Order: sequence, then C-alpha cells, then structure tokens
Amino acid sequence: MRSSYGFLHHFPAMNGMCAASQKLIILMKSIKISPSILAADFGQLNNEIALIEAHRDELHLDVMDGQFVPNITIGPVVLSALKTELPFDVHLMIVNPEEHITAFAAAGASNISFHIEATQRARDVIDAIRRNNCSVGIAINPDTPVSDILDYIADVDRILVMSVYPGFAGQKFIDDVLVKVRELRLLTKKDIQIDGGINVANIKKAIDSGANIIVAASAIF
Ligand code: DX5
Ligand code: ZN
Repeated sequence: MRSSYGFLHHFPAMNGMCAASQKLIILMKSIKISPSILAADFGQLNNEIALIEAHRDELHLDVMDGQFVPNITIGPVVLSALKTELPFDVHLMIVNPEEHITAFAAAGASNISFHIEATQRARDVIDAIRRNNCSVGIAINPDTPVSDILDYIADVDRILVMSVYPGFAGQKFIDDVLVKVRELRLLTKKDIQIDGGINVANIKKAIDSGANIIVAASAIF
C-alpha cells in the first residue's frame, strides 16, 4: 500500500505547529477537505479510508448512474459497507434523485448533494433530504449559470460547483468556474464546495475565490 497520500501533506495535523503558522491555522479551521474515494483502490476501500480519516473532515462519495453521467459507480449498498467515523458527503450524479434520497440517508449519508440539471423537482429533492435529516447541497455543472439555482440558495446548506464535467476523476481543472465561485461568495455565506481537478497548484485560487469545502480524489488517493 502507498504510504504517501498526495496533497494531504500540505495540510498536516495542526498539533505542534509553530506560532508563525497561526494565520494558516485560522485558514485551515474554516476550510474543509473532502477526499473523494473515486481515485482510491476499490479493492480495499476501508483500508484506503482508514489511512486518511484521522486528518479529514468528511468523505466525498461520488454516486453515478450511467445516465446523468457516462460512468457508473456505487450505491447505498457500498456506503453501508464503509467503516469510518467520517461523515458521508454524498454527491448524487443521477437522474431523478428524489427517488433515492431515503436509501442514501439510510446508508449513512450526512450531506446529500444533487444536481439541478438532473431533476425538474428540485424543491421535492430538498424537502426529501431534509425529511431524512441530512444537510442539503445543490450542485451545478461547469456550464450551468448561478442564475439557475438562485431560487434555492436560501433553502440549501451548501452549493457544489463542479470544476470538471462530472463523471470521472483525474480531469483537468476548468478555471472559468472560479467566476461562479466568486459570484456565489458575494451572494451567500453558506458553504461553497468545489469539485474536480483540484491539486496543490490550484487549491489556493479556489479558496481565494471563496470556496471553503475542497473535494479531491486523484490529488489524495
Ligand atoms: C467527478 C467527481 C469528483 C471526482 C474528483 O465527477 O464528482 O468528485 O472524484 O476527482 P479529481 O479530484 O481527481 O478531479
Ligand atoms: Zn464529486
């Protein structure tokens, strides 16, 4: 098993940091890192998670159905098999998400994010997630404008801005989406999550633009 977990080395445990690092500590407290298992070794998922869990805030679980995106990944059965204390941040890249909220909540979801492009019933999805006692995220693809979710921002806990076209780990970060992150940060103090192509070279500009939850798969696993 690999002993090095990518850019996590740039976010060491805070114990023992010198006084000169106070500014960094303040920054780290407001920024969450959400490792996506999409680039982990699925043959030994629980071992992979165990290696990162002491240092991270939540676990990002990418659910794909082969319809909303071209790839197929995992469902509630796999979530139920994961052994970790980390909260599950479930990123649904599926059509008709309203039909599956209860199953993902029962499988341990803490936050459930759905794509505005994947449903005509965004309000029902939000209500279903709340009824199941999870926090709510609304996600937008790189080409989807902020105006498409304006009606829902007040009713969700986080906005997930995709910085790649969803479907696969290991794609190149799309710089243009930072305009939307800045636009959102002017509109709301809520959590803004950025997902796709994040690495040690571009994480700073994502944070500077206003993102405070950072998803990364291939930069970590
Ligand atoms: C892409 C997924 C992302 C993906 C990120 O559709 O939503 O969460 O795992 O992978 P990286 O960090 O490798 O771009
Ligand atoms: Zn994701």
